[in-house]
Amino acid sequence: MSASKDRSANGVSQRLLEWYDRSARTLPWRSPPGKPPPPPYRVWLSEVMLQQTTTAAVAPYYARFLERWPTVEALAAAEDADVMAAWAGLGYYSRARNLLAAARAVAARGSFPDTEDGLRALPGVGAYIAAAVVAIAFDRRAVVVDANVERVVARLFAIGTPLPAARKEIRAGADAITPDERAGDFAQAMMDLGATICTPRDPRCLLCPLAQDCRARAEGDPARFPVRPAKKAKPTRKGAAFWIERVDATGRSVWLVRREGKGILGGMRALPDDGWSARADGFGVPSGDWHHAGTVRHGFTHFDLELSVHVSRAAQPDGEGEWWPVERIEEAGLPTLFAKAAARALG
Ligand code: ADE
Repeated sequence: MSASKDRSANGVSQRLLEWYDRSARTLPWRSPPGKPPPPPYRVWLSEVMLQQTTTAAVAPYYARFLERWPTVEALAAAEDADVMAAWAGLGYYSRARNLLAAARAVAARGSFPDTEDGLRALPGVGAYIAAAVVAIAFDRRAVVVDANVERVVARLFAIGTPLPAARKEIRAGADAITPDERAGDFAQAMMDLGATICTPRDPRCLLCPLAQDCRARAEGDPARFPVRPAKKAKPTRKGAAFWIERVDATGRSVWLVRREGKGILGGMRALPDDGWSARADGFGVPSGDWHHAGTVRHGFTHFDLELSVHVSRAAQPDGEGEWWPVERIEEAGLPTLFAKAAARALG
């Protein structure tokens, strides 16, 4: 099969939608196949959370966000710090900053944009989320390509060009099989196929509704697609975090700071540290009475971090921050790296 533009001869979408009618995953942000779509706020919120994050990790956050901020107007009125804390643990924190900025933009204009261009003007909304919201929330045709769809299409058309150069061909292939009707169901059917059948390793081709259409299967080695360039080794950075404690009449507390603006983990509450960043190691441990509590490791997208954790009951914090009660540390909204560091300091 070639990536032709003839959508009328699209047995692929028909077979896929019939499969979806039988096999759709039940997910909290989703309407069952053939049913009216959820409101755009819910679709947008879920797609922002699901970008780079698994459905299992997202589900409890999605439920908590909706309970606390049931509408885009409610979210727009939230305090920045509350939203950042509610996002803690989900990762890629620029998403939370953009989420709030986008909610405020939508509330100010009075409704969600219903076109891809309009949606893309919102902070944090790129081609994928814009297309997903148009298809899923407004049930209008849009070519939705996420990593799952990329894999399915690369296999269907046996696209041998390595990523990322293959993206143009993959998009043309996705365009060729996207139907005019049931846009949202089709997009989510492709995602489900990629997540449950057309998996990265050992795809379950015997169960695949598109096995007869699949050029990669015909060639005998579907898992070879999409072709990826050799992986670059991830560098390891080193840094230090400081657990500064005091005990006074109010009890035992620890000094927490808020991380600067747009850098890594920007806007999140954190332990003070030695200035490690995505590009550089930190400067180590200051002199004085510090106890080394251990080292935690954490993987970021472009580097791994080894963070040594140092504890002092005498050091004087400088700069802005707050004394946080140790017994309520779980409510501080620490991102996972600093939650691990806190556990090490306390352990
Ligand atoms: N991943 C991203 N968006 C999704 C959706 N709507 N359903 C299932 N998985 C997804």
